[in-house]
Amino acid sequence: MEVLVTGGAGYIGSHTCVELLNKGYDVIVIDNLSNSNPESLNRVQELTGKTLKFYEGDVRDEALLTKIFEENKPECVIHFAGLKAVGESVEKPWLYYNNNLNSTLVLTKVMEKVGMKRIIFSSSATVYTAGNEMPLKETSPTGGCTNPYGWTKYMTEQILSGMANADKDWSVCLLRYFNPIGAHESGRIGEDPRGIPNNLMPYITQVAVGRRPHLNVFGNDYDTPDGTGVRDYIHVVDLSKGHVAAVDYVLNNTGCEVFNLGTGTGYSVLDMVKTFQAVNNVPVPYVIAPRRPGDIATCYANPDKSREVLGWQAEKGLAEMCRDSWNWQKNNPQGYGE
Ligand code: NAD
Ligand code: UFG
Repeated sequence: MEVLVTGGAGYIGSHTCVELLNKGYDVIVIDNLSNSNPESLNRVQELTGKTLKFYEGDVRDEALLTKIFEENKPECVIHFAGLKAVGESVEKPWLYYNNNLNSTLVLTKVMEKVGMKRIIFSSSATVYTAGNEMPLKETSPTGGCTNPYGWTKYMTEQILSGMANADKDWSVCLLRYFNPIGAHESGRIGEDPRGIPNNLMPYITQVAVGRRPHLNVFGNDYDTPDGTGVRDYIHVVDLSKGHVAAVDYVLNNTGCEVFNLGTGTGYSVLDMVKTFQAVNNVPVPYVIAPRRPGDIATCYANPDKSREVLGWQAEKGLAEMCRDSWNWQKNNPQGYGE
């Protein structure tokens, strides 16, 4: 059975391709490589011993998508393709709204045309309104996003749930990711951010490998056990397996369902630094810096619905996440760019 993966050359997409191929699915990828390197797909094939079909191009290209659906018979789409840098989205809102919203609109238009109406979408915990009680449930209030990136996720959820509401043939899974980190245990695929990393774990690994002098810890005066921000970090391989469970779900159900993909446990920035150092026996110098605008103190999931309905739960702990992030970074100090 074929699955179309948009953005499949990226961080989460490449790991999900591995899990899909290992489960016996045939995988078709479309990616414009705007934030990825096709070497990731070579390595996916090397790791699985299987081949996938790759179309280099933009999801907003209706003619290309039509051709993909003519040449293949995917039974569902996992839609990862999107731009994801929060700060950049504030500077270039049009780019984000155009890329992230039009990609979904064109994709679903072509899906309607061919009559294949099963889609799994990469949403984010960022859609939850700040000030919510923790842990976050799928029913917790959403909206009030603080940046265009967050709004694109919120609006895409509205678009897809509206379509499923209007046409009962649609089967939609909105997956709200918490903080994906880690890498495949082989160290062959992983996160390869361009420029200075925005996110904590790639910054930590680049400090550890000597590419950056120290980590800036953004604030130590939050209302958390050690004053630093608390997040729900989830191993990218667990997250990818959540997508395989969602494929099974959309094949057997219709309507629109939202699922949190998190572990349910929060760790602070200093927990992350300490665990990374202890597990990998490598120093991560840090300095306390001012709070980063837009950050909240604490964010973690209630993952019960995913466990009960999808039959999925995260299995890997923080030590494995830190070990695998470092294994990827130290074996690929410049990411795929070598
Ligand atoms: P990524 O940048 O590594 O992967 C996204 C991929 O999509 C890239 O390969 C990029 O080249 C491709 N792409 C972007 N726009 C495209 C377009 N118009 N046409 C074709 N390809 C396009 O990011 P990721 O971390 O793997 O994230 C995947 C998805 O999950 C994104 O939608 C992201 O917003 C969402 N998400 C990520 C996180 C996270 O922390 N990584 C958290 C929540 C949600
Ligand atoms: N942090 C630092 N130093 C850094 C980077 C991050 O101290 O150099 C701290 C942040 O202040 C925060 C924690 O580490 O307390 C995690 O920060 P990340 O940037 O890794 O992750 P966020 O929770 O801020 O953001 C992530 C995704 C967003 C998504 C959001 C909510 O990057 O795309 O989760 O789902 F919108």
